[in-house]
Amino acid sequence: MNTSTIADLLKNAKQAKPLEERFNILRQLLYDTEADRYQDYEPGIRHEIKIVSNEIETEVKKYYEQTKIVEGYLKMGERVRAPSGWEVKNLNKLVQLIKENNVTESILDVGCGYGHDVIWFEQHGFEAFGLDISEPLIRKARILYETDTGITDNDISRFIAGSMTDMHQFDDESLGCVKMDASLYHLPYYGKDSPVDLTIRETHRILEDGGVIYLRVHSVADGEKGFMELEQRGEDLNSRYGQNLTSEEVKYLLESNGFEIIEQVNKRQGKRQRYWCSAYARKI
Ligand SMILES: C[S@@+](CC[C@H](N)C(=O)[O-])C[C@H]1O[C@@H](n2cnc3c(N)ncnc32)[C@H](O)[C@@H]1O
Repeated sequence: MNTSTIADLLKNAKQAKPLEERFNILRQLLYDTEADRYQDYEPGIRHEIKIVSNEIETEVKKYYEQTKIVEGYLKMGERVRAPSGWEVKNLNKLVQLIKENNVTESILDVGCGYGHDVIWFEQHGFEAFGLDISEPLIRKARILYETDTGITDNDISRFIAGSMTDMHQFDDESLGCVKMDASLYHLPYYGKDSPVDLTIRETHRILEDGGVIYLRVHSVADGEKGFMELEQRGEDLNSRYGQNLTSEEVKYLLESNGFEIIEQVNKRQGKRQRYWCSAYARKI
């Protein structure tokens, strides 16, 4: 790629629409500049992609704060609050991994929604916390927690409203497990220092040595490229942004941030049969 081409591409990328298209072009440019010798453009591209990433995070927050989404999740909650089948198998697998790794029985559910899994872990003897970007979902989680557990002196710090990119509310090495099921993929990924990378770095900081991380993200078939998309969810539920990470990206993300993979699976799942990548790893 020659210098004039990359300058033009950067100019065009800034004007590209819609938002996910702008992000995908900038991400490709960033990867191209990292790979070739026109690195003078890298700071400019990084600056631009950070702006777009913040816009995407704001849109996701707005999406999960809409009344119809919050209410919709609660209707689903009648089912999920008593997890069964695949869900409960997965939660039990996490319990087993936490015990095998001899870490504290404490867990943070990142992107906890209305806190159904936080409640499940509390009911199974864990000290459990939930963090979510949606303030109304966190408010609902606090109420449901009291209803389901009967604990009325609910500590306000059990459910935290905030972004997973900054988990300053938790001390270094203070938890045995961090779980992020279908939440990390709402953040943009463009390698080092992207919001996804910052989140995994933060997770490493707050986990004890040997602590377990579990994540499940939107993926693509092995060999394809990951990308950001605006996922359509039908008339009632609008659309929301999601990042498709490849198995290789998930592996790199975890290993470059000080984790050792225990198990990683990339396969089609659910009613829509889309690709999901799940990974269990331990802090080394
Ligand atoms: C698809 S829902 C999954 C909820 C829950 N983990 C489950 O499996 O049922 C995604 C959740 O991630 C939350 N979320 C999205 N972006 C976030 C961010 N940057 N920081 C914290 N939570 C976020 C949303 O508000 C939403 O509750």
